[in-house]
Amino acid sequence: MALLPILHYPDPRLHKIASPVKQVDDKIRKIIKDMAETMYAAPGIGLAATQVDMHLRIIVIDISETHDRLQVFINPEITSTEGEAECEEGCLSVPGIFEKVTRAATVTARFVDERGQQSTVEADGLLAVCIQHEMDHLVGRVFVEKLSRLKQQRIVAKLSKQQRQAM
Ligand code: NI
Repeated sequence: MALLPILHYPDPRLHKIASPVKQVDDKIRKIIKDMAETMYAAPGIGLAATQVDMHLRIIVIDISETHDRLQVFINPEITSTEGEAECEEGCLSVPGIFEKVTRAATVTARFVDERGQQSTVEADGLLAVCIQHEMDHLVGRVFVEKLSRLKQQRIVAKLSKQQRQAM
């Protein structure tokens, strides 16, 4: 088992832009396996490669209650969105912070799966939230940056206090 260290906001490496995966080979499948293990161990319901300092367009998600329905999205691209919905979000890179964020209610995305096959997904509810949240990570965006500047300052202060107490 290989658990990967998760970057914590406001680490500047969370702002790097991920590159597309050129070929889904064993090396990529190993990264996916390690990302999934890291996500389950955290525990979390989604993880982007950016969060483990690997700047490739790879996302893993599992929103099942049984934690056995891993969904892998390589090179995801949103092709259409519909509506708006507000949902309380958290992030493994922003521990202990939960804030309401407004995003598209439904998204259609195309992606490559772990066998290298092109696929599409139409998602709503929590899956739609997760896909959008994780895809933001791939372009260097953390969900708290969608909040007001004042809220962001409070979050940074709270996180640095947590880190000081952990030392
Ligand atoms: Ni996140």
